[in-house]
Amino acid sequence: ALVYLNGEFQSLSEARIPVLDRGFIFGDGIYEVIPVYGRKMFRAKQHMARLFRSLDAIGIPNPHSEENWMALIQKVMDAHPSDDQMVYLQVTRGVAKRAHAFPKEVTPTVFIMTNPLVLPSAQVRADGVACVTMEDRRWLHCEIKSISLLGNVLAAQHAAESGVTESIQFRDGWLTEGSSSNVWVVKNGVIMGPPKDHLILEGIRYGLLQELCEQHGIPFESRKITQEEVFAADELMISSATKEILPVVRLDAQTIGNGAPGPIYQQLYAAYQAAKH
Ligand code: PDD
Repeated sequence: ALVYLNGEFQSLSEARIPVLDRGFIFGDGIYEVIPVYGRKMFRAKQHMARLFRSLDAIGIPNPHSEENWMALIQKVMDAHPSDDQMVYLQVTRGVAKRAHAFPKEVTPTVFIMTNPLVLPSAQVRADGVACVTMEDRRWLHCEIKSISLLGNVLAAQHAAESGVTESIQFRDGWLTEGSSSNVWVVKNGVIMGPPKDHLILEGIRYGLLQELCEQHGIPFESRKITQEEVFAADELMISSATKEILPVVRLDAQTIGNGAPGPIYQQLYAAYQAAKH
């Protein structure tokens, strides 16, 4: 397997960055995670568009055209033995003497790697997963896919220490998102997600779920959702590149719905699988 780093294809163990890289010093960079099925990137256009939005949001000049990006990723994918992969790519502002504001002349650091895509097992999907709630204490630019993930790391660790899959975060009583996933609430046949604003990362599965709902006549609403509404949901689910869609059947000490994956989940999961091919 090969990784791409600043113009070179090399093995992961050979890849090196200088300690003054601003990604290391300040967490000054952005990233993407793209699922690959049968050696094809899924929703590549949308992931590229989000990558470009993230770069733009933090003022890193885009180092490659979309075509170049796709060619670089393709080369890394081609060198990997798995048909299903998760491509990770990261761009930092680059290497410079330590000072907080943007350096004048700096070249972005570009890194691409890929790993086997390990999806939740059929058993996990059949049983559903447990999650815990926590207060969202992250910054107010969650729409940027920043590599500064300390808040998400602490949320994920809280879930790990609780022996569950994800933390589901609330800001002042309003649902935001999971530690590394978006959250969906089903009530009376309507699927709802929090608004696409600065309080959540707009997952690529956000737009996908909207499309799938439209195709299958499932009413969809983007709106603010209270913690009470989450606990009172008929169904609860989380989505991400590496989880696809997962049903949540326990939250803290409470059972959600009837404690089993629900019909809207089943329908959306099937639609998601069909969309992959
Ligand atoms: N995370 N919200 C957060 C905070 C996330 O980190 C992610 C994904 C999502 C879902 O986005 P998408 O549908 O585009 O995967 C929402 C990736 C998988 C990660 O950090 O590994």
